[in-house]
Amino acid sequence: MRDPEGFWGEAAQAIDWYEPAKKVFDPASGIYGRWFSGGVCNTCYNALDRHVAGGRANQTALIYDSPVTKTKAAYSYAELLAEVKTLAAMIADFGVGKGDRVILYMPMIPEAVMAMLACARIGAVHSVVFGGFAAKELATRIDDAKPKLILSASCGIEPGRVVTYKPLLDEAIRLANYKVPSCMILQRPQAQAEMTAGRDHDWASLHAKAKKENKTADCVPVAATDPLYILYTSGTTGIPKGVVRDNGGHMVALKWSMKNLYGVDPGEVYWCASDVGWVVGHSYIVYGPLLHGCTSILYEGKPVGTPDAGAFWRVISEHGAVALFTAPTAFRAIKKEDPKGEFIGKYDLSKFRALFLAGERADPDTIKWAENLLKVPVIDHWWQTETGWCIAGNPMGLGMLPVKHGSPTVPMPGYQVDIVDEASKPVPANKMGSIVVKLPMPPACLPTLWEQDERFKESYLAEFPGYYKTADAGYKDDDGYVYVMGRTDDIINVAGHRLSTGGMEEVLSSHQDVAECAVMGIKDELKGEVPCGFVVLKAGVNRPPADIEKEIVALVREKIGPVAAFKLAITVKRLPKTRSGKILRGTMKKIADGDEWKMPATIDDPAVLDEIGVALKEKGVGGGA
Ligand code: COA
Ligand code: AMP
Repeated sequence: MRDPEGFWGEAAQAIDWYEPAKKVFDPASGIYGRWFSGGVCNTCYNALDRHVAGGRANQTALIYDSPVTKTKAAYSYAELLAEVKTLAAMIADFGVGKGDRVILYMPMIPEAVMAMLACARIGAVHSVVFGGFAAKELATRIDDAKPKLILSASCGIEPGRVVTYKPLLDEAIRLANYKVPSCMILQRPQAQAEMTAGRDHDWASLHAKAKKENKTADCVPVAATDPLYILYTSGTTGIPKGVVRDNGGHMVALKWSMKNLYGVDPGEVYWCASDVGWVVGHSYIVYGPLLHGCTSILYEGKPVGTPDAGAFWRVISEHGAVALFTAPTAFRAIKKEDPKGEFIGKYDLSKFRALFLAGERADPDTIKWAENLLKVPVIDHWWQTETGWCIAGNPMGLGMLPVKHGSPTVPMPGYQVDIVDEASKPVPANKMGSIVVKLPMPPACLPTLWEQDERFKESYLAEFPGYYKTADAGYKDDDGYVYVMGRTDDIINVAGHRLSTGGMEEVLSSHQDVAECAVMGIKDELKGEVPCGFVVLKAGVNRPPADIEKEIVALVREKIGPVAAFKLAITVKRLPKTRSGKILRGTMKKIADGDEWKMPATIDDPAVLDEIGVALKEKGVGGGA
């Protein structure tokens, strides 16, 4: 905090630059300043080429472990580089160059990682869309990013179900106003995608041709401040926010974090069990481990059911992983199936040193369960799509601080985390408030939203002048430990997946029979939170409410995707409101969760809350039951 430029300037020496930055931090450029202005670099070069040149050519860079297809593969740094060079040339053949966007709608296969790196290699900006999102969500992203090319595959594989991607992609392209010129589709053996003549191209044929012709693409030098990727995340409306990540600051912060935060050395095996569609997957399946010269594991499977609750221990022992990073929900799933941790004893976890959790609040019970059985430190750390890496954590590499259950520990270098009241005034220790980060944000954090500077300022910088608003609420204790208790906006975390209840309300309202609705996240033992939607039907609708509820559930799945896990729609006569007409979502949530609640002083008609309780009870939900 005393000398950010000195600190990050030194950290930047761990990265190879074509030209070093003219200024480590330039307060005059960008919205709140930019890191490493004037620097010229290439992220793919730092993730692959320099390791091959520096003696890691034969070290495994990527292990693909896929219980859902019963396949495994490994790529050395030299092999991964060769594949990425070819793929980069294939992408460039579509006229894609520096600054052009490429959307990836792909399952967890090595080609997804290669595609991200191939885009980085030629200076193209990738935007990965998670496979659990439906056509409409993909269409919104297409319209915003305007990609020259979309890379996709014929299917993803969920336990017991093949998810065909191509019909979703075709529908998204049909829904989008922007016309996508080209798609390159990888046919997987589990499903055959139908190709649209003139637009769709077969990945394997182009690959074979490029290999035969020995086509490769070199690294294109880009500005440190040029975008590496756009990652869309849920915002407070149905329109997702295009979080922009730059090249230079991102590399510096991620490389620094591998040793200092995760305590991992180059050459070691690091496993992040997330999905490349999420920020955690971007940072710690792909970029972080490869920038650091580690072996990264790409796991196409689940914590349970593929085939059992020992899956994670099997992967750790088989590949010798020293660290695992996943979401608490994955551990709750394992704990539910194997409460005594009997599977753990079946595997050799001797190399395993630490478990890292993020993506949602880590409940102390799950942490304690993991600590007792794994006998390694279990480290909760807090971050957001916007930051790209950890805001508060426990730095293994620098020297671990005592763990306090329920807290992700302390702010990482570069983050001045304050807890403030509505007037932006810091509140005393142990008092709840809005969690904000003093500007400037450290390297890797978003400089803006894609082509939406004003929305960036309005969403993050306007409410607390001089600060970045995290939209999380919490407090700091007397030792400066941060406690993150929940969001201040409409975002909920379902099984570690970030979703907007506002977006769901838009879908519910679009049903012909719905007059008004309210969606909120309610407690769930496995997923942390799940959405629950209350609907009031239009006057004169006399179809059975159960039929309408089923249609609403199907509609959310169709419009947002299965990942929304929206399974609970409840018809009520009216919604509880304040006298000024604001829906009392907070009180409804408390009733559903079985938490203590007080009658809001401003309520219009207290009887409505009893009706909500009865409706919940009829569905057998939480506190209503
Ligand atoms: N493509 C298509 N569908 C997908 C998908 C994908 N990539 N990922 C999830 N889905 C579907 C699931 O099949 C499920 O469908 P269903 O309603 O037909 O059952 C639905 O989306 C909800 O998925 P999810 O919330 O993940 O629940 P689950 O019951 O399938 O699995 C867990 C529960 C806990 C095992 C799983 O959520 C998990 O492993 N979570 C780890 C979280 C994580 O990696 N978070 C990233 C941030 S660190
Ligand atoms: P995402 O952008 O998907 O990573 O989600 C970010 C949000 O997830 C944060 O704003 C928090 O609300 C929540 N979150 C992530 N990690 C943690 C954590 N360790 N503890 C509490 N909440 C977390």
